[in-house]
Amino acid sequence: KLMKVFITRRIPPEGMKILAAAEGCEVSQWDSDEPVPRSELLKGVEGAHGLLCLLSDKIDKEVLDAAGPNLKVISTMSVGFDHLVHSEIKKRGIRVGYTPDVLTDATAELTVALLLATSRRLPEGVEEVKSGGWSSWKPLWLCGYGLSGSTVGIVGLGRIGMAIAQRLLPFGVKRLLYSGRTAKTYAAEVNGEFVPLDTLASESDFIVVSCSLTPETQGMCDKAFFRKMKKTSIFINSSRGAVVNQEDLYEALSSGQIAAAGLDVTTPEPLPTNHPLLTLKNCVVLPHIGSATYSTRGIMSALAAQNLLGGLQGSDMPSELSL
Ligand code: GLV
Ligand code: GLV
Repeated sequence: KLMKVFITRRIPPEGMKILAAAEGCEVSQWDSDEPVPRSELLKGVEGAHGLLCLLSDKIDKEVLDAAGPNLKVISTMSVGFDHLVHSEIKKRGIRVGYTPDVLTDATAELTVALLLATSRRLPEGVEEVKSGGWSSWKPLWLCGYGLSGSTVGIVGLGRIGMAIAQRLLPFGVKRLLYSGRTAKTYAAEVNGEFVPLDTLASESDFIVVSCSLTPETQGMCDKAFFRKMKKTSIFINSSRGAVVNQEDLYEALSSGQIAAAGLDVTTPEPLPTNHPLLTLKNCVVLPHIGSATYSTRGIMSALAAQNLLGGLQGSDMPSELSL
């Protein structure tokens, strides 16, 4: 019988081709680069058997009720799943697909780029060149902090955290600390030392947040956390904005409590252009582009499509999330 699928955005062609080739699949889509308005989402999911969504779509009770009892599978084109209301999905026995692994390298690369851009003050330098502020080579101008001999602390040593650690070590990092719920055996590959979050905060020169957003990690980087950091330390977040208390981060950056921050994720997204964080020279903000390479986004869309089909057919999904 015919299976109805709703896709909440224009996605790369790799995934669309897979769905077009699938028999018995009737696809409708919010065919735009901009997010689907809530009312259109609620209309679009009506009677759907499958939903292919993005991290910017909140999938909660209202959406699931609008979809109705046909809905068998939600496939998100993301590794993060904090936008899905787990309890409601589980209650209805709906399967969930996501896209881990395929974006690990791209996200780790971007995180390293953001770390270096922040620590070596690249956006400030570019701005000085354009504005005529570059008057001469100056011994004390635009100095930052280097990785060589440093201590790096990774909050959440999962797939992406490990890939970041592996990329940073060749810069001459001396110690690699990590925190999380449990110690990981694979941490030995990067000589990672499992430490409490407090120790990580106080001993690291570079802190990289790479954990999932959960009730436990929400607001975890707060005033108390930033107070433990050294004045010369750099804070990087490429996971989810809500792991950070942004008011506390603003305070820490503007008072000189910490040296600088680089954020690929914020709350909200997009961050309003008049947001206080954007007035700070020592804060580099990117528009959530961790996985944004051409090839990675293509592979993510293909995997999301395969997950969706697996769920519709009641067969294996290449990457199923157990809630
Ligand atoms: C990106 O943040 C993702 O969850 O895929
Ligand atoms: C830098 O360019 C130097 O020559 O020291």
